[in-house]
Amino acid sequence: MTSKALQSFLDENIADLKERGLYNEIDPVEGANGPVITINGKKLINLSSNNYLGLATDDRLKKVAKEVVDTHGVGAGAVRTINGTLDLHLELEKKLAEFKGTEAVISYQSGFNCNMAAISAVMDKHDAILSDELNHASIIDGCRLSKARIIRFNHSDMDDLRQKAKEAVESGNYNKIMVITDGVFSMDGDVADLPGIVKVAEEFDLITYVDDAHGSGVLGKGAGTVKHFGLQDKIDFQMGTLSKAIGVIGGYVAGKENLIDWLKVRSRPFLFSTAVTPADAAAATKAIELLMESTALNEKLWENGDYLKAGLKKLGFDIGDSETPITPCIIGEEKAAQEFSKKLIEAGVYAKSIVFPTVPRGTGRVRNMPTAAHTKAMLDDALAIYEKTGKEMGLI
Ligand SMILES: Cc1ncc(COP(=O)(O)O)c(C=O)c1O
Repeated sequence: MTSKALQSFLDENIADLKERGLYNEIDPVEGANGPVITINGKKLINLSSNNYLGLATDDRLKKVAKEVVDTHGVGAGAVRTINGTLDLHLELEKKLAEFKGTEAVISYQSGFNCNMAAISAVMDKHDAILSDELNHASIIDGCRLSKARIIRFNHSDMDDLRQKAKEAVESGNYNKIMVITDGVFSMDGDVADLPGIVKVAEEFDLITYVDDAHGSGVLGKGAGTVKHFGLQDKIDFQMGTLSKAIGVIGGYVAGKENLIDWLKVRSRPFLFSTAVTPADAAAATKAIELLMESTALNEKLWENGDYLKAGLKKLGFDIGDSETPITPCIIGEEKAAQEFSKKLIEAGVYAKSIVFPTVPRGTGRVRNMPTAAHTKAMLDDALAIYEKTGKEMGLI
């Protein structure tokens, strides 16, 4: 028997979300998630993925994934500490450490898991975490899990960060204090002021944690935001995902040997959840190798990003202050953003609306993510559709 309390909770809340334009419909993608996707039998130019370098459908990654299914099977079998760790996971971590320029790396099942794992392995209720107000949901949840006091600072505001760090230190209430930030903010495309954060961290002895889910593969010729600023020796935790630019699945934390050793004995998703499949580990390793061999994909990504941004700006859209290929078209009201996205999709561009709670209320937007796999012709088609639909809706 279903609980009446549960039913009324679900009915009321789902109806409320629909009424307020906050209910997200999930579209079924038929086939691969490439630069052009098929939804309900219709081909659409895909500007909604995080597959920045087009590696999710790359033949070289597919080849190694197929090969290791034959040599290693389809599953990792057990948690790594219980049944021994596969050579493929160790190779992945070794390659990632080389790529990131750190002593060691630990890999997890997802980027989200990294933040659940790493923050609470180090921080506890006697500590405080200074967290940028626009940090990703997984950072927020990871901080909450740690039970540390969470102190939000204004987005990328170094004066506010410094003031709050000073107050936290002077209060004498905390054993340790961490500052945590996205490297690239995924909904706006702006880059964290890591040099500013490091300066405050050095002044107040803060632990530094950068979630580089959207910076890896994109900034620093692919090696990420920390490398972009040349701060590899100054950031304690470099967290990244293997699901976006790397094109596969999984996440990792890069840092000093003793930090990674600690995470291997104390972080719960590592200790109590099975690692990614052999095919995932091998494909991700291959992707890292490709990025270390050549910057061609990274350069193509930036070329396409700059092209789309210039085109949308010229048409008169508000594309915010993005410093990366992430290109929001900020509409404002949630329902209008959803309506615009719907019309774009009908016309042939898969660009999804992003609304509260992913972004602050009243800043509803359509988020565009050109990738290295898009051709100029695809981007031109997308711009033509943006122009026509934007004019029809009176947005430009
Ligand atoms: C900043 C940030 N951190 C972490 C994650 C989670 O990564 P994953 O999809 O690998 O779980 C995301 C994904 O959206 C993200 O944008």
